[in-house]
Amino acid sequence: MKEIRVGIIGFGTVGSGLAEVLLEQQQRLEKRSGISVRLSKVADIHISELPPQFAGVTLTKDAAELINDPDIDIVVELIGGIEPAKTFVMDAIASGKHVVTANKALLSQEGQDIFSAASKKGVEVGFEASVGGGIPVIKSLKEGLVANKILAIMGIMNGTANYILTRMTDEGIPFAEVLKDAQEQGFAEADPTYDIEGIDTAHKLAILMTMAYGMNITHNDIATEGISQIKPVDIEFAREFGCRIKLLAISHNHGDHVEARVHPTMVPDSHLLAKIDGAFNAIHFTGDMVGNVLLYGLGAGKMATGSAVAADILDIARDIRSGSVGRVPSLSYLPEYIGERKITPMSELACAYYFRITANDEPGVLSTIAGILSRNGISIESVIQKGRKELGPVSVVMRTHTATESSVSAALSEIDALDVVAAPTIKIRMLEIE
Ligand code: HSE
Repeated sequence: MKEIRVGIIGFGTVGSGLAEVLLEQQQRLEKRSGISVRLSKVADIHISELPPQFAGVTLTKDAAELINDPDIDIVVELIGGIEPAKTFVMDAIASGKHVVTANKALLSQEGQDIFSAASKKGVEVGFEASVGGGIPVIKSLKEGLVANKILAIMGIMNGTANYILTRMTDEGIPFAEVLKDAQEQGFAEADPTYDIEGIDTAHKLAILMTMAYGMNITHNDIATEGISQIKPVDIEFAREFGCRIKLLAISHNHGDHVEARVHPTMVPDSHLLAKIDGAFNAIHFTGDMVGNVLLYGLGAGKMATGSAVAADILDIARDIRSGSVGRVPSLSYLPEYIGERKITPMSELACAYYFRITANDEPGVLSTIAGILSRNGISIESVIQKGRKELGPVSVVMRTHTATESSVSAALSEIDALDVVAAPTIKIRMLEIE
């Protein structure tokens, strides 16, 4: 039986998970590919030995030793970040190796260089684990949905943020407390900025949009807001409106332009995405032929993500065996059909909004606020006021009918400049079900 040798750079959570998957599923992988996939080398600067079950595997601290090893067919990059990950990936491609990575930050920022180098060299780049952990989202887009024009992508793509919002919702605990708890459990990163500020979600959306629409886009092109400003009181009001707050990635394909945004969103309880709780991820595609498709599962974790990396390795092994390397374009579209598309300016977005205005409880305040909204063409759907004047400023909460982002920004600047307004207004966009 032909043997394919794999080298892993980075033996952390995902790297060690992958090694276990390859070992545990060895026979199954052979039966499904006709190839023996063998873990041959591991490069990691932080460990001095591998677990005993990997006795035959060479450990080095020098990634170049693995990249330049003529016996290695597939280099798996699992260190994350931009550098030195990009150098390792580019060097591996230059030396004719196939590459598998879970690095969404790298692909969303440097993907053009990487995919173009791989295409010129005739090697494959697998990245199933970069979006949705163990959920086969990349393969679905590249193969299962290939006969569709993708009209929309919407999803919960960050488990840490969803875990925090879920506990805030179910237990009424403030954001900072849940975050600290998640960090103590080793669940959230020591620096959780990318997770809670929506950047990790934007990385993932950029990868999906490139594949869905055949367009060049990086996470810098995506309007991104995180969840750190959300308070238990917003979650309570959301409940009164029959909604749950979720950090969503949203993209709509309008033909000549595409929407791309990541922000906390009020999702009606009846929507499937409102039911995705804890650290789970869910990605929802709308295709013009298939209609709606929802993929749900673990977006992170050792074995789940290891299974996604192993799936890429097996795809490459199958292609090598059948002499069909490059059969499925990495980004779904052939490179010559990936081009520029206009991204809808955020100011043109139109949706319903939730505002939480913190104002003094005085006669005339509500009518002043209503006057500003009216002058900016924003129609109020409902108003709730909670709190007691004796305890200081109160929360005035409003739901609007559909309004444009530009008029909302103008109105909120005016409202926040009023002497009676004590804190910046919190604005959350509402998801409209079509
Ligand atoms: N940090 C990510 C999350 C997992 O919390 O979902 C890896 O993409």
